[in-house]
Amino acid sequence: QSRCLTPPDIRARKGAAPIVCLTAYTTPVARLADAHCDVVLVGDSVGMVLHGLPSTLGVTLDMMILHAKAVRRGLKRALMVVDLPFGSYEESPAQAFASAARVMAETDCAAVKLEGGVDMAETMAFLVKRGIPVMAHVGLTPQSVNAFGGYTVQGRGGDAERVLADAAAAAEAGAFAVVLEKITAPLARRITETIPVPTIGIGASAACDGQILVVDDMLGLFADFRPRFVRRYAELARDAECAMAAYAEDVRARRFPAPEHSFDDIPQTPAGGAV
Ligand code: KIV
Ligand code: NA
Repeated sequence: QSRCLTPPDIRARKGAAPIVCLTAYTTPVARLADAHCDVVLVGDSVGMVLHGLPSTLGVTLDMMILHAKAVRRGLKRALMVVDLPFGSYEESPAQAFASAARVMAETDCAAVKLEGGVDMAETMAFLVKRGIPVMAHVGLTPQSVNAFGGYTVQGRGGDAERVLADAAAAAEAGAFAVVLEKITAPLARRITETIPVPTIGIGASAACDGQILVVDDMLGLFADFRPRFVRRYAELARDAECAMAAYAEDVRARRFPAPEHSFDDIPQTPAGGAV
């Protein structure tokens, strides 16, 4: 972990070059992201993106740890942050510490992320004082989807004060960065100008100190739905669909495998191709 970026490195980027973040859940994708990102988040979005769950509420600590171990093997430079899943930290600071300590010990991550601001400030301070760097997540917090009644934009009108208070409380509690999810652009700018730690936006405008996207969303791999705040930089689901259709056609027509994929009785020399 020593050669990786650290939470203080990220904290120090406030007001400097934008902080580039993506999620990852597997070794090969972590390896790709590591070359381009400052922070790689093992998000609890893994439940919806890779496991087909209807929300993040069903994600367990064991799932997070399994994916975080895989991501760890793919990183050389980026800071790895792991989400604490629903139910693993809200009950008490002690519960949060036990969960976070287990995640850190088993996955070698350098920080955890949890959802909440004012209500979780005591918990965040408890972790930070005990050596666990915390990234906070405010605005639209998907683990509260039932309380919100959906995934609607947060911080409009008088609600702005609530989100600002959450971000400020997280920074005050010692969070080294705060994710702002799906809030209005003016509010994202105001929070970014107000709090002393970097804001990492997702659906929160270019005013933030950094940006994060769910990697499968920006690759066009998770195509079930498409939040407005996602820009698709590739269409991997479409490409995979074409590839599978072509493969199925080839197999049915006995065009695959071809002679070069098949083996003779007499081994060929290395110069003559694979044996
Ligand atoms: O779980 C996740 O992917 C996240 C990011 C979108 C911030 O929390
Ligand atoms: Na998350």
